[in-house]
Amino acid sequence: MTDANRDPVTEVLPAAPAPAAPIPAAASGTVEVPAMVEPATESVPPVPASAATGYPGYASTGFGGPEATSPVADAQLEADPRYAYAAPSAIPGYGDAGFSGAYQAAAAAAYPVPSNLDAREPLAMLEARGITAWFGDHQVLDRVSLTMPAGQITSLIGPSGCGKSTFLRILNRMHELVPSASLAGEVLLDGDDIYEPQKRLTDARKAIGMVFQKPNPFPAMSIYDNVIAGLKLTGIRADRARKDYLVETSLQKAGLWKEVRDRLRAPGGGLSGGQQQRLCIARSLAVQPRVLLMDEPCSALDPTSTRVIEETMLELASEVTIVIVTHNMQQAQRVSSQCAFFLAGAGKPGGIVEHGPTDAMFGDPQDDRTADYVNGRFG
Ligand SMILES: Nc1ncnc2c1ncn2[C@@H]1O[C@H](COP(=O)(O)OP(=O)(O)O)[C@@H](O)[C@H]1O
Ligand SMILES: [Mg+2]
Repeated sequence: MTDANRDPVTEVLPAAPAPAAPIPAAASGTVEVPAMVEPATESVPPVPASAATGYPGYASTGFGGPEATSPVADAQLEADPRYAYAAPSAIPGYGDAGFSGAYQAAAAAAYPVPSNLDAREPLAMLEARGITAWFGDHQVLDRVSLTMPAGQITSLIGPSGCGKSTFLRILNRMHELVPSASLAGEVLLDGDDIYEPQKRLTDARKAIGMVFQKPNPFPAMSIYDNVIAGLKLTGIRADRARKDYLVETSLQKAGLWKEVRDRLRAPGGGLSGGQQQRLCIARSLAVQPRVLLMDEPCSALDPTSTRVIEETMLELASEVTIVIVTHNMQQAQRVSSQCAFFLAGAGKPGGIVEHGPTDAMFGDPQDDRTADYVNGRFG
């Protein structure tokens, strides 16, 4: 894709060259975004009428604004293969359109600028039905079905190699980015199959965020820009006030705001490992997902950082459904209300041996293999 015809997502998109033939404003991708002055409703934190000119308290710190999206940041964003949102060119079907032109117009139509700062959707249940997965002809999951209840934390446990990460990647359509990967089955988000042909990859990514084992902020990008990095990649348009709002609230929810509020312009790479992981959580939260997937999010962290992340998860559960893969049995018990035990027999694809309320899984497992695993007898 060419950088030249990409529109940075700012409060007012740049004026378009006059089109050869009249096209509807909504399809041109250059619609002026109205200032957000609509009063907050009761479901939204109070927002002063001055929101259109900036969120209170930000003027003095001077963050946000046009420099929030620099060309360097953009390039880094799209070049970085570690990022949960694949570069547009890597997304089948998006091709060279990337985030300019037709794609951006579609995104603008799909995600109109919300009329208030907090555009969160209600809690959602995630349901996997009969998920079978392959890498080439190597089958790694066999008919896995699991309901992950809305507003709860579901933990996935089991030995390495039994397909937990693969299952998690299938839940937000990351699996399909692996060239040899294929799958069968359905993933329903509040009853809607995210794999339906008319459904877009970026919709799944926006609704279902992912945090990885190794914190992967963009190291040279500012903390502020890291938090809002997902907005552009999922086609969400936001003006300055909304960006500032999302940065503060996402960092607060991730338990990092107090530590970084005075250095939002500092690079994300300068934070400690635990802080970087919370920054990644904030980045996921900024697109206001309905589900957050976490693949061993604490396995690279020290015990103190781990506890901070666990507390953060417990607080988040009231507004986002969480699915966490963990090898830490204490962690599964501390944070999750539901638990599923995955296992793969020798040379066989993985599947769920047993699932249910975490207390029962650990206190009264029905399957001997579950009992052995949760009691540390293998794995
Ligand atoms: N990108 C990949 N290409 C080929 N095989 C893979 C790939 N990722 C995972 N696998 C294989 O899929 C199986 C399940 O792996 P994974 O989902 O990572 O398990 P877990 O997270 O439980 O450790 C393993 O046999 C692994 O080698
Ligand atoms: Mg894994």
